[in-house]
Amino acid sequence: EQVQPFYGPHQAGIVNPVPAAGLVAAFDVLATSRADLERMFRTLTERIAFLMAGGTPPEIDPKFPPPDSGVLGPVIVPDNLTVTVAVGASLFDQRFGLAGVKPLELTTMVRFSNDALDPETCHGDLMLQFCANTPEANIHALRAVVKATPDLLALRWKLDGFLPAATKTTGPKETARNLLGFKDGTANLDPTDGTAMDRIVWVRPDTAEPAWTVGGSYQVVRIIRNFVERWDRTPLQEQQTIIGRDKASGAALGLKAEHDVPDYSGDPEGKVMPLDAHIRLANPRTAATEANLILRRPFNYSRGVTKAGQLDMGLLFISFQSSLKAGFIAVQERLNGEPLEEYIKPTGGGYFFTLPGVPDKDGYLGQGLL
Ligand code: HEM
Repeated sequence: EQVQPFYGPHQAGIVNPVPAAGLVAAFDVLATSRADLERMFRTLTERIAFLMAGGTPPEIDPKFPPPDSGVLGPVIVPDNLTVTVAVGASLFDQRFGLAGVKPLELTTMVRFSNDALDPETCHGDLMLQFCANTPEANIHALRAVVKATPDLLALRWKLDGFLPAATKTTGPKETARNLLGFKDGTANLDPTDGTAMDRIVWVRPDTAEPAWTVGGSYQVVRIIRNFVERWDRTPLQEQQTIIGRDKASGAALGLKAEHDVPDYSGDPEGKVMPLDAHIRLANPRTAATEANLILRRPFNYSRGVTKAGQLDMGLLFISFQSSLKAGFIAVQERLNGEPLEEYIKPTGGGYFFTLPGVPDKDGYLGQGLL
């Protein structure tokens, strides 16, 4: 029961429960012709369908390199693996003649006021999001994809993420904490609510978007460093007013329980919930801002030490939405200048479009695009 289905109207890795390990890898496409691009998508489809289902790789002939890295042993366990394929704006440049079918809102990620984007960890023609119960399952899948596409894909950047054990897909459900120590995901959308997902996450047929995009979703990936040394020296009260929630319980300021829903209409001056608290800016809960809801699916990351001797850790922010402008961009524009900025620094990521799913064995990822 740890198998996520590969075939369906949408790709896996978006609305299924988020497992404990994530990995994002951005690639440059080396293919130069439409035919090679198709071969790339077909190869990805074949590999991902196999890896997600698990099984035994072909027999080993010691005269050749083994067909599988062996990282997971002789039998590949699925371990809730999902590999989600998304394309970046650069894939729609002159190389493949795809400019006419680019998702309308897909652009190269631009910098926001608090960003310090490192070009070495930004953008890409292709984004693969790996999620599984273990980091090994993700690494195994990444290596299998890399091995199958040497003339088609070049790795550009990657980042591993993790979530606390409590969020594992088995056992009691608890909201994961991020590396600032706050519960992250309390007010997130319910991914099992199909109606909400159809409205907020998936591109629908009744829009101006190219027909092939229906069932896909805009994916935002942001590497957001947390200045944890500074945060750990900040008074609890200040931490809580910056976020807008109680650190221990996760309850919104002025409320009792984690899932009590705030209502800001009686608090126009921000006496209970500061007007610039992260959660109030992110979702002011007015009729007009209903259109700006997004599905968040982030991980934490930790990757060594900066040149200044500080911990390099933070949030691997990932969100899905049917409109990039009404979703992530509108929310981020409201957050620009928020007090939390003193403790965070976005350093990388990109905007991508998650391809629609593959309905059955006859199809392949990106089929509608080509
Ligand atoms: C809520 C932390 C970045 C959008 C929250 C919550 C926390 C949090 C603790 C409250 C719990 C919850 O409802 O999930 C952080 C941290 C960030 C970060 C530490 C950066 C390192 C972002 C970004 C966006 C965003 C970049 C989008 C542009 C939201 C939204 C909510 C939220 C929409 C829910 C608000 C609500 O519906 O009440 N965040 N966040 N956050 N955050 Fe963030």
